[in-house]
Amino acid sequence: MFRAELDRLRADAELALSAAIDAAALEAARIEFLGAKSGRLKAIQKSLGGLAPADKPAGGKQFNDAKNAITACFEAAQARVAAGSSGPAVSAIDVTLPADPFRLGHLHPITKTIRRVQEIMGRLGFESVDGPEVEDQWHNFEALAIPAEHPARDPLDNFYLAVARGSDPLLLRSQTSTVQIRVMENREPPLRIVSLGRVYRPDTADATHYPMFHQVEGLLVEPGTTMAHLKSVLRMFASSFLGGDVKVRFRPSFFPFTEPSVEVDMEWGGRWVEMGGAGMVDPAVLEAVGYDPDTVTGFAFGLGVERIAARRHGVDDIRDFYRNDVRFLRQF
Ligand code: PHE
Repeated sequence: MFRAELDRLRADAELALSAAIDAAALEAARIEFLGAKSGRLKAIQKSLGGLAPADKPAGGKQFNDAKNAITACFEAAQARVAAGSSGPAVSAIDVTLPADPFRLGHLHPITKTIRRVQEIMGRLGFESVDGPEVEDQWHNFEALAIPAEHPARDPLDNFYLAVARGSDPLLLRSQTSTVQIRVMENREPPLRIVSLGRVYRPDTADATHYPMFHQVEGLLVEPGTTMAHLKSVLRMFASSFLGGDVKVRFRPSFFPFTEPSVEVDMEWGGRWVEMGGAGMVDPAVLEAVGYDPDTVTGFAFGLGVERIAARRHGVDDIRDFYRNDVRFLRQF
């Protein structure tokens, strides 16, 4: 009886004290439970005298425990009210709730693809080099055997700047093949380089085109180079990049700066996809950079970075790479 009453009193007191929202409510609760004259604790203390002598020591201890607990609860409530926090203690910070997750950023999927390509080609001995995005007509066209009247200029001719070098206006490069020329002009064979970067073309944006995109350019100039080396390098690259068995197919094509020229298709997971162009460096190009075409041979290739990234990750619209929608970007 005594014990049950004491427990109920203690529960009532703790609830009332922790729910007190201001000094007045707290004082009312104090008087009700801890009041010296007619508080409920005082009343129950009086009933201690009615216990059997054998129960008195235990009863006294239980009473003291309850009194101490209620006093501690009162002091805590007093501190809370004094600190100005309203509302019961249960509205304070709940340390058992999970914390807000940190959102870590990461590199853009195109940047990741570029680094991966550089890393794979690096293992095959290809050094990564950069070239300018603002080019002159010599590097974008003429040295690549695309003279002014050549029809191959048509799909590439655009984005001229109001800045000229001599009498030639500069333009945004339309292919990374410009870097082949820049490297060969400054170095002697043997050469193995890759260059990855942006190119610009007058293309209407759709699922597979965009007026700005990225290319991987590869160039190897070494004695005795053949198309078989080109195919092997592309196949090794493709199986490292895509993982597993990749088939590479060449279809006859035309580029002014390679002879013979091919379109490069890759088969992976049962589907053939066109990845870019390639061929043996044209003797006219070797001459333009001051090499002797009778003693030097090489191959070159150019692949679309968006295409290989889309293929690897199952993206079916390359415009998603530029929309900056974090729901898309977060997946990489
Ligand atoms: N520059 C070509 C293009 O953009 C691709 C290419 C690169 C073809 C190197 C042959 C050799 O279409």
